[in-house]
Amino acid sequence: MDNYLKDFPVGKNIDVYPLMNKLAFEIVINSLFNVNIQEEKRNELSNFISEIQDFVLKEVNQPYLSWWFRLSGEEKINLERSKRAREIIQELIYNRKQSPEKFNDLLDMLLDARYEDNGQPMSDDQVIDEILIMLIAGHETSANALSFTLFLLAEHPKQLQKLKNGVSGLSIEETVKNEALLSVINETMRLYPPAWISDRVALADDRFKDFIIPKDTTLVLYYYGLHRDPENFEDPQSFHPDRFLKKNINKEKQKAFYPFGAGPRMCIGNNFALAEMAIFLQEFILHFDITSTGHTPGLKPLITLRPDKIILNVSRN
Ligand code: HEM
Repeated sequence: MDNYLKDFPVGKNIDVYPLMNKLAFEIVINSLFNVNIQEEKRNELSNFISEIQDFVLKEVNQPYLSWWFRLSGEEKINLERSKRAREIIQELIYNRKQSPEKFNDLLDMLLDARYEDNGQPMSDDQVIDEILIMLIAGHETSANALSFTLFLLAEHPKQLQKLKNGVSGLSIEETVKNEALLSVINETMRLYPPAWISDRVALADDRFKDFIIPKDTTLVLYYYGLHRDPENFEDPQSFHPDRFLKKNINKEKQKAFYPFGAGPRMCIGNNFALAEMAIFLQEFILHFDITSTGHTPGLKPLITLRPDKIILNVSRN
């Protein structure tokens, strides 16, 4: 974190969104592979992931153009990118398997994992799938949440000052549990849930209250709407981090908050994400000052809820 903050740009009208993206990617890749991946391969992976994501988005948003993506060769280029990303990870797995050393990272854990029923490890292909999912699921979501957090704090200087006063001198263990930091992060994800929408397919005929749900129906869960519904939160459009303090959390009107989803497919990186965001936020606000530029970010509700830009004035304390 220190290294990253050392190079953090300061000045007027800085778009912090790409910076948060880079940071979140670095955090997840360093946690997956606690080794020095060559800079060139790291950049290659990062570029592939953004390019593949952009292409998937195009296919989701313009399914009627899929024939064109095939004909124009765009689909082929993306399949090759995905193949190359898999090769880079395969090489890391190969090197790891040859090494007698323990790295204590997520890759070690994935390679050491055994199926409960047959005691077998995952195949390399499965490990690669898991790694790619974590790189994708664990990177943009955290970057979006952190960017909106900085925006909201810059818009609410009193909240920012209060937060700064309460978080200096904390150990890492204290930081990841700090109520004030977590309340700010949760309130940001209430207003701007990175996973703003999700879906499920009914596996069998079902019913909920008066709704009949036939098998194969797709149900869309609209988290953004739930989080801003006055039925669920008081003054739902405003930023009030204190609503997430323990003393307030049990109130009746705090019942629909699902930034990480729920049930068996709930985010497996939720604690990781909260910890990385709390640690970053604590370090950042102690080293830097941010003020509003009056710019309101445009919302891009794609696979995740992205800001177009987050323009802030940034200075060192
Ligand atoms: C602020 C950060 C994050 C948010 C808001 C978030 C949100 C979510 C949500 C809502 C889901 C469930 C999607 C569904 O219902 O279909 C999900 C799934 C998942 N997340 Fe996260 N996530 C975050 C960070 C992370 C991180 C850091 C990682 C890993 C390092 C991660 C790994 C995953 C994985 C692997 C799944 C799929 C779980 C499954 O299908 O069983 N996420 N995430």
